[in-house]
Amino acid sequence: MSATLLDLKSMTAEAIARIFALADHLASEKPGDRDFFRFRRGLTAALVFFEASTRTRMSFETACHREGLHPIVLDSALGTSLEKGESAEDTLFNIAAMRPSVMVVRSNDSLNMEAMASVLKMPILNAGWGRKGHPTQALLDIYAIRKHHANLAKQRILLIGDIRHSRVAASHFELAPLLGYEIALCGPESFLPETPGRQVFKTLEEGLKWATVAMALRVQLERHPSQTNLQSYHQEWGLNPQSLSALEASALIMHPGPINWGVEMSPEVMKDRRSIILDQVSGGVFLRQALLREAIGGIG
Ligand code: NCD
Repeated sequence: MSATLLDLKSMTAEAIARIFALADHLASEKPGDRDFFRFRRGLTAALVFFEASTRTRMSFETACHREGLHPIVLDSALGTSLEKGESAEDTLFNIAAMRPSVMVVRSNDSLNMEAMASVLKMPILNAGWGRKGHPTQALLDIYAIRKHHANLAKQRILLIGDIRHSRVAASHFELAPLLGYEIALCGPESFLPETPGRQVFKTLEEGLKWATVAMALRVQLERHPSQTNLQSYHQEWGLNPQSLSALEASALIMHPGPINWGVEMSPEVMKDRRSIILDQVSGGVFLRQALLREAIGGIG
């Protein structure tokens, strides 16, 4: 795998299997086993978040600490030269000049991450890029599923809701053909991709009967061109004890977070024993540790 990770198109099933195996190994480590300070003294990782984040930023930050990399974080425009009108590109050039070992970047669509990666000549990990993709989220989703269902090629993932605006969905569309799982969609017409290119269920019930994984996606109001009325959304597309009676007992319930409670799902869903929403978050740290380790080149 090349050290930079901007999308999943250029990944291979073998590279992903290696990342998952490394994440499993890291998950089995106890804090006392970690010998990283001997190897990584003084190395830094720049976490540059031009867009809001809780899980992804703190997950990468935790992963850095566990890997003995010092995270240097820019987590909002507030108090930075972005407030003075400095561009995202100039911000990245200047942070790169401080020679971190790796840069983790979240931005909107307007940044050309590919061009930046080729100019900056250092490993860049995409931590959410506008609507284009969120590769580490898709990888951690599959890492979480794999703990329950080892045969990924047999999985049928139902993406529910705002698929059109979801970079998580975009990354799953790239990852599914590599690992062999199926994806189908359901949600309001205006939330679906203009050309879905795959099975679309007309009702949530039909979709849930088909699925081995029900993955609800946040309604991304900030990316909608006009005001969206969410009043009737939950009734038709929301996960709750009633709608989830259509989902088989061995199936899984997921959400990348943050959750709009009462919209994508009702609070009871968190207690449903099929829900692995917080396992996505826990496993995500090991997965990102593995990606950081690969990015900076093995143990050293
Ligand atoms: C997602 C994101 O930011 O793309 N969340 C995440 O990283 N865990 C999904 C979202 O914002 O809805």
